[in-house]
Amino acid sequence: MSGKNGIVTGAGGGGIGRASALAFANAGARVLIMDIAAEPLEETARLIGEAGGTAETMVGDASDEDFAAQMVARTVELWETLDFAHNNAGIGIAATPFAQQERSTWDRVFTLNAFGAMSFMKHELRQMEKQGFGAIVNTSSMSGKNGSPGLSPYDASKWTAARGSSVSSETAGRSRLRAAGVVRWLHDGSFCTHRLSLRRVGRYRRCAHRS
Ligand SMILES: NC(=O)c1ccc[n+]([C@@H]2O[C@H](COP(=O)([O-])OP(=O)(O)OC[C@H]3O[C@@H](n4cnc5c(N)ncnc54)[C@H](O)[C@@H]3O)[C@@H](O)[C@H]2O)c1
Repeated sequence: MSGKNGIVTGAGGGGIGRASALAFANAGARVLIMDIAAEPLEETARLIGEAGGTAETMVGDASDEDFAAQMVARTVELWETLDFAHNNAGIGIAATPFAQQERSTWDRVFTLNAFGAMSFMKHELRQMEKQGFGAIVNTSSMSGKNGSPGLSPYDASKWTAARGSSVSSETAGRSRLRAAGVVRWLHDGSFCTHRLSLRRVGRYRRCAHRS
């Protein structure tokens, strides 16, 4: 990853985004990281700096398409290329029977988990198509693949993100981007949660590495 440049969204929490950003930086990449929460985002940047890596931060909303475009433009302005992106920002919901789900819950999870990730991917792909290379990973969920009781809005948003990724992968293949693995969709979060539930230490780091 040395000399590569990328974006990680939702990198401020104590979870997968921070672990991903640290993993990329530890492998020698420069990362432009974002989160809606400023302080934890700065903490991620501080951890990367302490480890000798390079991180720049942008605070914003990962469901905002204009912000996605700005992040891609900023990456190119800083480092000339966008080699990779990990669209990870996402929110969960409280388990609720389907018939009691509010429309506002559907709106909230779709706005970030599905539309946000797709907007980021759209602008990342535009830059990668221009360059002729690049790789994108979107964090989906096993819950999106298999479903979980009471989580239909979340499950559907994650499935949408996953399917959107594979459609983009076909498009990218046609435009002669590195077709194999240009866009991959992962269910890593829950997979790792289940696999590592007996040994939680390092769980997120392992998830990030699998990504
Ligand atoms: N933890 C799991 O077991 C699991 C399982 C399946 C999928 N996932 C997915 O993995 C991703 C990361 O989850 P996590 O468990 O590391 O959670 P987390 O809460 O640690 O990280 C999510 C981050 O996204 C940020 N965020 C929330 N709304 C945002 C917005 N509008 N704009 C920008 N940033 C925003 C939060 O501030 C937080 O830092 C999510 O997409 C989640 O759905 C997690």
